[in-house]
Amino acid sequence: MHHGPAQVAVRREYEVRSEDDLLTVRHAVRAATVECGFGLVDQTRVVTAASELARNAYIHGGGGTLSVELLKRRGADGIRLVIQDEGPGIPDMGAAMTDGWTSGSGLGHGLGGARRLMDEFHVDTRPGIGTTVTVARWTVR
Ligand SMILES: Nc1ncnc2c1ncn2[C@@H]1O[C@H](COP(=O)(O)OP(=O)(O)OP(=O)(O)O)[C@@H](O)[C@H]1O
Ligand SMILES: [Mg+2]
Repeated sequence: MHHGPAQVAVRREYEVRSEDDLLTVRHAVRAATVECGFGLVDQTRVVTAASELARNAYIHGGGGTLSVELLKRRGADGIRLVIQDEGPGIPDMGAAMTDGWTSGSGLGHGLGGARRLMDEFHVDTRPGIGTTVTVARWTVR
Protein backbone atom coordinates (compact mmCIF):
# COMPACT_ATOMS: atom_id res chain seq x y z
CA MET A 1 0.00 0.00 0.00
CA HIS A 2 1.23 3.48 -0.86
CA HIS A 3 0.85 5.99 1.96
CA GLY A 4 2.31 9.19 0.56
CA PRO A 5 4.59 11.46 2.52
CA ALA A 6 4.19 12.07 6.25
CA GLN A 7 3.54 15.65 7.36
CA VAL A 8 4.62 16.76 10.81
CA ALA A 9 1.62 18.61 12.31
CA VAL A 10 3.08 19.29 15.77
CA ARG A 11 6.50 18.90 17.33
CA ARG A 12 7.31 19.14 21.05
CA GLU A 13 10.60 18.56 22.79
CA TYR A 14 11.31 17.38 26.34
CA GLU A 15 14.46 17.12 28.43
CA VAL A 16 15.36 13.67 29.74
CA ARG A 17 17.78 14.45 32.55
CA SER A 18 16.08 13.29 35.75
CA GLU A 19 13.59 10.77 37.14
CA ASP A 20 11.06 13.63 37.18
CA ASP A 21 11.67 14.21 33.47
CA LEU A 22 10.94 10.53 32.80
CA LEU A 23 7.56 10.92 34.49
CA THR A 24 6.83 14.11 32.53
CA VAL A 25 7.70 12.32 29.28
CA ARG A 26 5.35 9.44 30.07
CA HIS A 27 2.48 11.86 30.65
CA ALA A 28 3.29 13.97 27.59
CA VAL A 29 3.52 10.94 25.31
CA ARG A 30 0.28 9.51 26.71
CA ALA A 31 -1.47 12.84 26.00
CA ALA A 32 -0.01 12.95 22.48
CA THR A 33 -1.29 9.43 21.70
CA VAL A 34 -4.76 10.49 22.85
CA GLU A 35 -4.58 13.57 20.58
CA CYS A 36 -3.59 11.24 17.77
CA GLY A 37 -6.64 9.06 18.27
CA PHE A 38 -4.95 5.88 19.49
CA GLY A 39 -7.01 3.44 21.55
CA LEU A 40 -5.97 2.48 25.07
CA VAL A 41 -3.89 -0.53 24.05
CA ASP A 42 -1.92 1.43 21.44
CA GLN A 43 -1.52 4.35 23.84
CA THR A 44 0.13 2.01 26.30
CA ARG A 45 2.37 0.45 23.64
CA VAL A 46 3.71 3.86 22.61
CA VAL A 47 4.10 5.10 26.19
CA THR A 48 5.98 1.92 27.13
CA ALA A 49 8.35 2.28 24.18
CA ALA A 50 8.90 5.98 24.96
CA SER A 51 9.57 5.15 28.58
CA GLU A 52 12.16 2.47 27.76
CA LEU A 53 13.97 4.66 25.23
CA ALA A 54 13.93 7.74 27.45
CA ARG A 55 15.23 5.66 30.35
CA ASN A 56 18.05 4.36 28.13
CA ALA A 57 18.99 7.92 27.17
CA TYR A 58 18.97 8.87 30.85
CA ILE A 59 20.79 5.80 32.25
CA HIS A 60 23.15 4.79 29.43
CA GLY A 61 23.43 8.06 27.52
CA GLY A 62 23.87 10.45 30.43
CA GLY A 63 20.65 12.29 29.62
CA GLY A 64 19.20 13.73 26.45
CA THR A 65 16.01 14.86 24.81
CA LEU A 66 12.83 13.29 23.51
CA SER A 67 10.87 14.93 20.76
CA VAL A 68 7.28 14.03 19.99
CA GLU A 69 5.89 14.62 16.51
CA LEU A 70 2.26 14.19 15.56
CA LEU A 71 2.14 12.98 11.97
CA LYS A 72 -0.45 12.99 9.24
CA ARG A 73 -0.46 11.12 5.99
CA ARG A 74 -3.14 9.93 3.63
CA GLY A 75 -5.40 7.57 5.58
CA ALA A 76 -3.59 7.62 8.90
CA ASP A 77 -2.40 9.66 11.84
CA GLY A 78 0.75 8.74 13.64
CA ILE A 79 3.29 9.61 16.27
CA ARG A 80 7.05 9.76 15.94
CA LEU A 81 9.44 9.86 18.88
CA VAL A 82 13.06 10.90 18.48
CA ILE A 83 15.20 10.13 21.53
CA GLN A 84 18.65 11.68 21.38
CA ASP A 85 21.64 11.65 23.70
CA GLU A 86 25.29 12.60 23.53
CA GLY A 87 26.51 9.62 25.52
CA PRO A 88 29.05 6.90 24.66
CA GLY A 89 27.02 5.32 21.86
CA ILE A 90 26.21 1.61 21.52
CA PRO A 91 29.33 -0.32 20.45
CA ASP A 92 27.54 -3.55 19.51
CA MET A 93 23.99 -3.03 18.22
CA GLY A 94 23.51 -6.76 17.65
CA ALA A 95 24.13 -7.46 21.31
CA ALA A 96 22.12 -4.44 22.45
CA MET A 97 19.07 -5.61 20.48
CA THR A 98 19.27 -9.13 21.93
CA ASP A 99 16.61 -9.77 24.56
CA GLY A 100 18.21 -10.36 27.92
CA TRP A 101 21.51 -8.67 27.01
CA THR A 102 22.46 -5.75 29.24
CA SER A 103 25.72 -3.95 29.86
CA GLY A 104 24.42 -2.90 33.26
CA SER A 105 21.92 -4.20 35.77
CA GLY A 106 18.77 -3.95 33.64
CA LEU A 107 16.73 -6.80 32.19
CA GLY A 108 17.98 -6.10 28.68
CA HIS A 109 14.48 -5.94 27.21
CA GLY A 110 14.19 -2.21 26.54
CA LEU A 111 15.40 -1.88 22.96
CA GLY A 112 13.91 -5.15 21.71
CA GLY A 113 10.65 -4.35 23.45
CA ALA A 114 10.50 -0.87 21.92
CA ARG A 115 11.10 -2.32 18.45
CA ARG A 116 8.24 -4.80 18.84
CA LEU A 117 5.86 -2.17 20.23
CA MET A 118 6.30 0.29 17.35
CA ASP A 119 5.75 0.11 13.57
CA GLU A 120 9.03 1.83 12.71
CA PHE A 121 12.32 1.62 14.62
CA HIS A 122 15.69 3.05 13.72
CA VAL A 123 18.89 3.53 15.71
CA ASP A 124 21.73 5.83 14.71
CA THR A 125 24.62 5.45 17.15
CA ARG A 126 28.21 6.67 16.97
CA PRO A 127 30.96 5.86 19.47
CA GLY A 128 31.77 8.91 21.57
CA ILE A 129 29.14 11.05 19.82
CA GLY A 130 25.82 9.67 20.97
CA THR A 131 22.69 7.77 20.07
CA THR A 132 19.49 8.76 18.31
CA VAL A 133 16.57 6.35 18.31
CA THR A 134 13.62 7.17 16.05
CA VAL A 135 10.37 5.22 16.34
CA ALA A 136 6.90 5.68 14.93
CA ARG A 137 3.48 4.13 15.14
CA TRP A 138 0.42 4.70 12.93
CA THR A 139 -3.28 4.53 13.69
CA VAL A 140 -4.03 2.65 10.46
CA ARG A 141 -1.51 0.18 9.11
N1 LIG B 1 21.16 5.45 24.66
C1 LIG B 1 22.09 4.51 24.87
N2 LIG B 1 23.40 4.84 24.97
C2 LIG B 1 24.35 3.89 25.19
N3 LIG B 1 24.06 2.58 25.32
C3 LIG B 1 22.78 2.20 25.25
C4 LIG B 1 21.73 3.13 25.02
N4 LIG B 1 20.56 2.45 24.97
C5 LIG B 1 20.87 1.17 25.16
N5 LIG B 1 22.20 0.99 25.32
C6 LIG B 1 22.93 -0.27 25.52
O1 LIG B 1 22.11 -1.32 25.06
C7 LIG B 1 21.90 -2.26 26.11
C8 LIG B 1 20.52 -2.86 25.96
O2 LIG B 1 19.52 -1.84 26.19
P1 LIG B 1 18.11 -2.31 26.75
O3 LIG B 1 17.27 -1.11 26.95
O4 LIG B 1 17.58 -3.39 25.85
O5 LIG B 1 18.47 -3.01 28.14
P2 LIG B 1 18.90 -2.32 29.52
O6 LIG B 1 18.68 -0.85 29.46
O7 LIG B 1 20.27 -2.79 29.85
O8 LIG B 1 17.86 -2.98 30.50
P3 LIG B 1 16.29 -2.66 30.63
O9 LIG B 1 15.96 -1.60 29.62
O10 LIG B 1 15.58 -3.96 30.33
O11 LIG B 1 16.13 -2.21 32.03
C9 LIG B 1 22.13 -1.49 27.39
O12 LIG B 1 22.49 -2.35 28.46
C10 LIG B 1 23.26 -0.56 26.98
O13 LIG B 1 24.50 -1.20 27.00
MG1 LIG C 1 16.89 -0.07 28.79
